[in-house]
Amino acid sequence: MERHRWLTVAIFACLIVFSVGRELRLNHKHSDDAISFNHTLAEILVEYASAAYISDLTELFTWTCTRCDDLTQGFEVIELIVDVQHCLQGYVGVAKSLNALIIAFRGTQENSIQNWIEDLYWKQLDLMYPGMPDSMVHHGFYYAYHNTTIRPAILTAVDRAREFYGNLDIIVTGHSMGGAMAAFCGLDLAVNYNSQNVQVMTFGQPRIGNAVFASYYSKIVPNTFRVTNGNDVVPHLPPFYSYFPKKTYHHFPREVWLYNVGFGSFVYQVEKVCDDSGEDPSCSRSVSGKSISDHLVYYDVELSSPGWRSCRFVMDPPLAASYGTSDPNGNQVFSRDPGISLIRLKEQLVLDGKGSGAI
Ligand SMILES: *[C@@H]1O[C@H](CO)[C@@H](O)[C@H](O)[C@H]1NC(C)=O
Ligand SMILES: *[C@@H]1O[C@H](CO)[C@@H](O)[C@H](O)[C@H]1NC(C)=O
Repeated sequence: MERHRWLTVAIFACLIVFSVGRELRLNHKHSDDAISFNHTLAEILVEYASAAYISDLTELFTWTCTRCDDLTQGFEVIELIVDVQHCLQGYVGVAKSLNALIIAFRGTQENSIQNWIEDLYWKQLDLMYPGMPDSMVHHGFYYAYHNTTIRPAILTAVDRAREFYGNLDIIVTGHSMGGAMAAFCGLDLAVNYNSQNVQVMTFGQPRIGNAVFASYYSKIVPNTFRVTNGNDVVPHLPPFYSYFPKKTYHHFPREVWLYNVGFGSFVYQVEKVCDDSGEDPSCSRSVSGKSISDHLVYYDVELSSPGWRSCRFVMDPPLAASYGTSDPNGNQVFSRDPGISLIRLKEQLVLDGKGSGAI
């Protein structure tokens, strides 16, 4: 018994030494790169990606939801977009603690995540990315950002924030399908909107384009990290075919793969910064990757809807009347001026008799 315990401890110690050694080597290898992965920032951004799933828009707009409480306190939402027609949601706001504008997108809200994932196997590379010869993407991901109410609302919010705060860094994030939209948004801001300082960090993002696209992307938005988790199935989709290099989907770099080492009660998570190919065979591609549950929790943060999965949302009517506009298709945009405290929002809620303790 005693021997067994010592053996366990010894093996565990070896594991630690082994992986610490590996991390150090990796860090050393990347030390000449200007951009390095920041674990603290990842833990903050995953909370923003998680909040994008909140369908109680009163709580989201006033940043009072339970997911809006931890590392993201004090965040100021300036725009909230619900594209009811295409079942999409995203928001823009200012994180003073990061001195950055945050743009976050919700993942798919279809009733069955299984169906959505099965469909991913069959997505075709069927659209030329404009202005980038031979660069192909999937039209569904592209249009979700480019051909809905999402893009114009985001661009207006970025303008308003810049007018007020000057040239803030822009950090775009999202989970799953929201990660795909985050990548298109970051690229759009860098290419068409002349934004410097654009960073993208996605969680459990599917592939969105071919190798030519990935190569353009990584030159234009070099400060991009694509976090993948254990056996999460979604980063494996749509599939990568190494024997069809010209035809296959291909991830852009840089992947950061989270995986567990140890056993029993000695399990801890390693964060592996992968190579700059986008398809590092020693990262998530080294596992078969069939898990849905690994898709739904990153860094212990839930990345799905807290309640029912649907495109419905609720918002306090007076708040909606004061800050919301809706187009003929029912798509909603809620915006407010940057820099104005939550007092006006509070008053609005008090008028409605909901204010006591709500904020
Ligand atoms: C990582 O990000 C956090 C939050 O933005 C920041 O406070 C910290 O200085 C960063 N660390 C490094 C090494 O850049
Ligand atoms: C883009 O959006 C418009 C308006 O919703 C729609 O009519 C058009 O078919 C869309 N284009 C594509 C290629 O999906």
